[in-house]
Amino acid sequence: MNILVLTAHPDLSTSTANRKWFEALSDVDGIITRDLTAVGGPEMRFNPSVEQALLEQVDRVVLQFPFYWYSSPPVLKAWLDQVLLFGFAYGPDGKNLRGKELVLAISTGGPAESFQPGAFNSFTMSEFLTPFQQTALMTGMSYLPPFVLHSAMSRDQTNLNASVPALISHVTSTRLNYNAKLPDAESRQ
Ligand SMILES: Cc1cc2nc3c(=O)[nH]c(=O)nc-3n(C[C@H](O)[C@H](O)[C@H](O)COP(=O)(O)O)c2cc1C
Repeated sequence: MNILVLTAHPDLSTSTANRKWFEALSDVDGIITRDLTAVGGPEMRFNPSVEQALLEQVDRVVLQFPFYWYSSPPVLKAWLDQVLLFGFAYGPDGKNLRGKELVLAISTGGPAESFQPGAFNSFTMSEFLTPFQQTALMTGMSYLPPFVLHSAMSRDQTNLNASVPALISHVTSTRLNYNAKLPDAESRQ
C-alpha cells in the first residue's frame, strides 16, 4: 500500500508532536511525507497538477496536523481548496480519488475527557471532524478512524514517544474499519 502523508503544521521547527511524527513517518518504507508549509511557502500556493499527480499514485492519504481552533491550521484548508478541484475530486468526471482511503492524524492540546458534552470542549472529536469525513464521502474516499493524541501540549515525552509506534501502526494498518471502531475509541490521552 502506498501512503501519502500531508503534514500541515505552520512551523515544524517549533513543533514537538508533529515534527516527531513527521520525522518518524518519513523513515517508513511506502510512505511519502510532504510538509505543506514548506511546499506552499508563506502564501500557501500549491501547484494543483503536482499535488494531484501525487494523490493519484497512492492508495491512502493521511492528513497530519495539530488541532487549531477545532480544525486544522490554514495551510491544509489552502491545500484542499486548491487541489480538490471540480473534474478531479468531484463532479461528473471528478473520480480520481474514488476508492482511496483518508486517515487523519491529529494532536490536540485538550485532554481526552474534555471532548464530550458538558465538558470543556463540549463536543466529541468525531463531531469536530465531520467536515473532513464529508470531504471523504464527497470525493468517494473511505474515511477511516483517525489517530488522535490528546494532551499533546503537556510535553510529556513518555506519552509522545509512545505515540510514534502507535501512529505508524495505525496509518499503515490494512485492518482499519470505520464501522468496527468509533473514532473516539482511538483517542489517546
Ligand atoms: C492557534 C492555536 C489553536 C489551538 N487550538 C486548539 C484547539 O482548538 N483544541 C485543542 O485541544 N488544542 C488547541 N491548540 C493546541 C495544539 O493542538 C497543540 O499545541 C498541538 O497539538 C501541539 O502540537 P505540536 O507540538 O506539533 O505543535 C491550539 C494551539 C494553537 C497554537
